[in-house]
Amino acid sequence: MILEILTYPDDFLRKTAKPVAAVDKEIWEIIENMADTMYSAPGVGLAAIQAGIDKSIIIYDPDADSEKRGYQALINPKVISTSGETVSENEGCLSVPDFRSDVPRAEKVVVEGLDREGKAVRIEADGLLSVILQHEIDHLNGILFIDRISPLKRGMYKKRRKKALKRSDQAS
Ligand code: NI
Repeated sequence: MILEILTYPDDFLRKTAKPVAAVDKEIWEIIENMADTMYSAPGVGLAAIQAGIDKSIIIYDPDADSEKRGYQALINPKVISTSGETVSENEGCLSVPDFRSDVPRAEKVVVEGLDREGKAVRIEADGLLSVILQHEIDHLNGILFIDRISPLKRGMYKKRRKKALKRSDQAS
């Protein structure tokens, strides 16, 4: 099932996700719906918060747009450490329409969490996967990528977004 993705400035996106107590059928269903939603968007990552679900779950697939497609889910993910240089991918977000920006991120990240079976996993990532994990785990803490860019750029986006929302209000 495809879920509705909340967009900036929806307050729900500022919530801190609650830890998942047990990985059960309900969680598997949420994960499946999140995957349907991510691929249809399309995107390379999604946090449950973005779909209005207040749980600490992310899914990601750096190969979402290729034939190698296959997603991973992480439950209660935590960044354990970051290292390496500061890197920037031109980031976008399904909850921040019509905007992309470089965002300073750590080159490497170590993340721990639970997999779909509820088993503890540790992921050491670099490159695009490292950036995706940092971006999605930010969502679980109520942080959007625009919070990590310069105030000037953020201010410009906020203004533009406000105008676009006003226009769509008048059209409906
Ligand atoms: Ni995002």
